[in-house]
Amino acid sequence: MGHSGETPRLGAARLSPGTPEDAGSRWTTEAVVQCERLSKRFGSTLALDSVDLAVPAGQMLAVLGLSGSGKSTLLRSFNGLVTPSEGRVKVLGCEVTSANSEHLRTLRRQVGFIFQQFGLVGRICVLENVLAGALGRVKYPRFGVLSYPRRLRLEAIGHLERVGLADRAFQRADTLSGGQQQRVAIARALMQRPVLLLADEPVASLDPESSAAVMELMLRISREDNLTVIASLHQVELARGWADRLIGLRDGRVVADAKPDEMNEQRLSEIYRRVAEGKMDGPPAPANAFTTALAG
Ligand SMILES: Nc1ncnc2c1ncn2[C@@H]1O[C@H](COP(=O)(O)OP(=O)(O)OP(=O)(O)O)[C@@H](O)[C@H]1O
Ligand SMILES: [Mg+2]
Repeated sequence: MGHSGETPRLGAARLSPGTPEDAGSRWTTEAVVQCERLSKRFGSTLALDSVDLAVPAGQMLAVLGLSGSGKSTLLRSFNGLVTPSEGRVKVLGCEVTSANSEHLRTLRRQVGFIFQQFGLVGRICVLENVLAGALGRVKYPRFGVLSYPRRLRLEAIGHLERVGLADRAFQRADTLSGGQQQRVAIARALMQRPVLLLADEPVASLDPESSAAVMELMLRISREDNLTVIASLHQVELARGWADRLIGLRDGRVVADAKPDEMNEQRLSEIYRRVAEGKMDGPPAPANAFTTALAG
């Protein structure tokens, strides 16, 4: 049951049965995220090339790949920020490819998005940043912590407690460390009551210790809330440590799909071959067991 004055959710759509044309296809209704033959072209660049993927509820999925392999494009197509050139995308039962703008808005309210650069408003306090995650659930724009209903303020404090930052509630967001800011961004996403969390290189700006803390936090929340998390990452070892499943993109194609312990060097070489050949043309590859092994 929703709170009065709040906007609708996709609950019914999520449980809707498949359409008749789904019969005979691998299109299922159980997956939180599903795409079929998803391609995205930007001019002459094929950013995604016929991607088939189904992500079940509660899964922690890591998306690996060189710079330019299509990771961000894939994540952005899951909340309708990128319109596919071909294929189908279904998220929380909503067919993104054919959804009207109202359905897309409803979908986006339930999909949290975490960015490399945190995306907080630096000059306002931590608590108001978290409350901003509820803007899709309230009817009017809000300015200042006290403009939000008390129950939302209590909820926001609860999320801050969960990420271990309740004591920073009234501190300006830009005075926090990078790792703390990313945890605030997670608290803000939780304020959306997300069913799916997309994280595009959430730890790329963080030191190893803060990176581990952020990934650990997402894992804990995923397990406690059965939250589906899809994160793009450059750190193979980190991905192996927390993900249930890793996929690798190369030139927009899924070239590896494996459990952490099955992501062996052969599969990794499918994803990162240019690194091994010394022809890497993106930013430097992060050091990890794989690149070290290849170098040795
Ligand atoms: N809006 C756009 N317009 C034109 N080309 C784009 C656009 N967005 C992405 N591309 C291209 O699509 C390809 C995939 O880009 P994408 O950002 O998805 O890669 P990525 O794997 O996220 O890379 P990185 O690790 O550097 O973030 C790249 O060749 C990129 O230049
Ligand atoms: Mg990217």
